[in-house]
Amino acid sequence: MKSDLRTVALEARERAYAPYSSFKVGAALLAESGKIFAGCNVENVSFGLTMCAERVAVGRALADGENKFERIVIVSDSKTPVVPCGACRQVLAEFNPRLLITSWTVAGESADFALDDLLPTPSQGMDVPRGT
Ligand code: THU
Repeated sequence: MKSDLRTVALEARERAYAPYSSFKVGAALLAESGKIFAGCNVENVSFGLTMCAERVAVGRALADGENKFERIVIVSDSKTPVVPCGACRQVLAEFNPRLLITSWTVAGESADFALDDLLPTPSQGMDVPRGT
């Protein structure tokens, strides 16, 4: 399953829109249902509007009616596996604070993380039920 996710993320990476950084990232988000949702980074001329691959995958899953996630796999062409940015950690924690994360380089190096290690105290905001 982890290798399926890597393939989905690799293919999504090819479709990244990254003309400003030339740094393409792909993601594959595994829902509890077993469905996999792909994401790629989507940059904008107004740089701050850029969406990371991880958050694009979350949006695609939510739009398809899924909000329970087990694992996300990320692929980028970096020297060492990338670690999700702070904004993505917070967005991922909204749905599963203990999400498992595997990050791959295109060359084949990987690193595993647990989201609660990367973001031990997510922002709480208003005291309302999550994931509903
Ligand atoms: N990026 C991602 O999509 N995910 C990450 O985990 C790291 C960074 C994107 C954002 C931007 O388009 C480019 O990579 C350079 O930072």
